[in-house]
Amino acid sequence: MIARYSPGIYYNTAHNVSHLRLVENEVVLLTGSTGNLGAQLLLSLLSMRTVKRVYVLNRPHLRNLSMMDRHQARFKEKGLDTSILYSPKLVFLEGRNSLPGLGLAADAIKELQGELTMVVHTAWNLNLWAPLSKFESNIKGTRTLIDIVQGSEHRADVRFLFTSTISACFSWDRARGPYPEEVIKDAKYAVGLGYGESKYITERILAQSGINATILRCGQFSGGEPNGAWPVWEWFPILLRSALQVGSFPNIDHCYTQYWVPMDAVSNTILDIAFSKEKLPLVVNVQQPHTIRGEQVIQMLRNALVEKVGLPSPDSLPLIHPGEWIWKLRRMMQDDRLSPESREIVVSRPRFDLAAVCIPLIRTMLCHSQEAMINISISYRIPQAPDTPSTDDHSSTSKPRTTQTVLSLELDSSNAKRLSSTIRELKPIDETMVNKWVEYWVRVGFIERRSLAASRPHSRL
Ligand SMILES: NC(=O)c1ccc[n+]([C@@H]2O[C@H](COP(=O)([O-])OP(=O)(O)OC[C@H]3O[C@@H](n4cnc5c(N)ncnc54)[C@H](OP(=O)(O)O)[C@@H]3O)[C@@H](O)[C@H]2O)c1
Repeated sequence: MIARYSPGIYYNTAHNVSHLRLVENEVVLLTGSTGNLGAQLLLSLLSMRTVKRVYVLNRPHLRNLSMMDRHQARFKEKGLDTSILYSPKLVFLEGRNSLPGLGLAADAIKELQGELTMVVHTAWNLNLWAPLSKFESNIKGTRTLIDIVQGSEHRADVRFLFTSTISACFSWDRARGPYPEEVIKDAKYAVGLGYGESKYITERILAQSGINATILRCGQFSGGEPNGAWPVWEWFPILLRSALQVGSFPNIDHCYTQYWVPMDAVSNTILDIAFSKEKLPLVVNVQQPHTIRGEQVIQMLRNALVEKVGLPSPDSLPLIHPGEWIWKLRRMMQDDRLSPESREIVVSRPRFDLAAVCIPLIRTMLCHSQEAMINISISYRIPQAPDTPSTDDHSSTSKPRTTQTVLSLELDSSNAKRLSSTIRELKPIDETMVNKWVEYWVRVGFIERRSLAASRPHSRL
C-alpha cells in the first residue's frame, strides 16, 4: 500500500524552509474536528489570536445531522464552550476520502491552496479490530491532502501535522530500547493491528513526500479537563464496565496505564509543537513522561467507584489473569439468571454483548505476546465452562501474572520534551482526574449501581 499511494509524491518543498518559522496569521485546516481530540483542538485554535481562520474538514453524517449540530453535540459532551462555534474564523467543509479532491468544490480547493499555512490531520477510523484493508480510504484521503498542500501557494511554509499512534509500533523489539523518534523503514515492527499498520503506511508516505510533515506518534489518550469525558465506546471504559459485571479486572500489562495522557494535555502538546518557531522534526513521540504504576490508577478507580456508585469496598475488583477473567466472563454469560441489561454494554445504539466485545478486545491487545495468546486461546475454546479452571492456563487470583501489550511500550520522547512545555510539565494521572472520569461515566449513564452485580461480596463468580 505504501507503493500504491506514493507514485509522484515527492516534491521538494521542505528544503526551502528557513530555520525559524515566522508565519503571523495562521490558516489551519483541521480534519476530524467532530472527534474527541479534534474538538479539543478546535476550541484552542479558535481561541488563538495568531490564528486567522480554521477550516474544519469532516465526512458527511450518516443521518444527515448538520456540521454545527455535530460539533455542538461533541462540545457539550466534553464540557467545552459551544459559543465559540459561532466564531467568524470557523469554516465547515464536508469531504469524502474516496473522492478525487476529497469531493471538495474546485473553488474550495483553490481557496485552501491560496491561504493554508497548517494542516492538522486527526480524522481516522479508530477501529482496533478492523483489518488493514478497512483503512485504505483513510490512507487515500491523506495522499489527497498531501497533494493539496503540494499545490498550495505557501507550500514551503505549510506544516502538516499527522496524529499517528503507538499501535504503529505494535511488534517493536523491546530489547532494542525505546521506540525511536524516527520513521523505521522495516515494516515488520508495525505488524499486529490493521489500525496501527495503516498509520505506519501513512508515516512512510509522509516521510517521502517532501512536505513539512510532522508525525505525532501518540500513546493512549485518557479523559481530560474540563469534565473527564472519556467516550464510552473506547476500550478502557468498556473493560471497566465489564469488570464491574465480572467482579474483577483482567490483569493485562500492569493494568494498561503507565503512559496515558489526558485529552486536554494531548491537544495542548500538539499545539505547542505545531506553533513552535523551530523547524520541526519528522517525528515527535507524545507519551506521558512521568509514569506511575498502573495498579495505582486501578486503586484510584476503585476508590472513586466506592464513593460514586457504591462499590462494596476499595478491595473489590481484584486483578486476575486475563485467561481466568475471560473464563469468568463466559461463565457469567451462560448464567440464565443474568438480566439482559447485565449481558450487554450499551454504547448509545446498538447494544453489544459483553463477551463479544471483551474477548476479542483482550485477544487483540495481547496478540503479540505468545505466552498470553496460548493461555487465552485455551480458555477461549472451553465450550462449557467447568466449575473451576481445569488447566494451568488460569493462575490463582492471589498471584496474578501479567502480560505486556503495546500500551506499555516506551517511546523515546526527546523531541516532544524539547518542543512542548505541556508534556515536560505534565503530572501523572491523579485522583482528581480519575474521579472526573468516573463522574463522567456515571453522568452519561454508562455505569451505575446496577453495573455492580458481581462485585458484591459472596458473589457466585
Ligand atoms: N484515542 C486515542 O487514545 C489515540 C491514541 C493515539 C492516537 N490517536 C489518534 O488521534 C486521532 C484522534 O483520535 P480521537 O480519539 O479523537 O478519535 P475519535 O474521537 O474517534 O475521532 C475520530 C475523527 O475521525 C473521523 N473519522 C473516523 N473515521 C473516518 C473515516 N473513515 N473517514 C473520515 N473521517 C473519519 C471521525 O468522524 P465522525 O465524527 O464522522 O465519526 C472523527 O471526526 C486519530 O488519528 C487517532 O488515530 C488516538
